[in-house]
Amino acid sequence: MAEDLQIIIGTKEDQYKSLIPQIQGLLQGETDLIANLANITAALKEQFGWFWVGFYLVKDTELVLGPFQGPVACTRIKKGRGVCGASWAESQTLIVPDVEKFPGHIACSSLSKSEIVLPIFKINEVVAVLDVDSDRYNEFDEIDKIYLEQIVKMIEF
Ligand code: SME
Repeated sequence: MAEDLQIIIGTKEDQYKSLIPQIQGLLQGETDLIANLANITAALKEQFGWFWVGFYLVKDTELVLGPFQGPVACTRIKKGRGVCGASWAESQTLIVPDVEKFPGHIACSSLSKSEIVLPIFKINEVVAVLDVDSDRYNEFDEIDKIYLEQIVKMIEF
């Protein structure tokens, strides 16, 4: 596949609809998990320009930082802690319009204002989460949930 991403201007849905087949192309034929996670974070960051996009991988009782795009971040998060640990513990996507109002939110950067975290499953077990942070309040909604869930389902763990 071509290594350059086609970035489009349009509604959030238009952007996801353009990006998803390109991500599919990036993953096609590549079996290395880290390579695929790395390219997904780059593609999302390039298209949407979000503040931080990255994966945390479940290792024993913690989430450990995986491939990401953005400023340096906390490396380990315990189950149930912060938005990421809560998403893992509850096995559900969490949309946080204002991170300061989320009890226990872990502030890797004070510039992060809103956040969405999606659990990623392998045979009903959470194996990782995708965390996306914005420097604007109320950035994420059901549209992001729907399309980001489609994207994480493409990943083979
Ligand atoms: N805010 C997250 C921690 C990860 S950073 O945002 C990259 C949380 O509360 O789990």
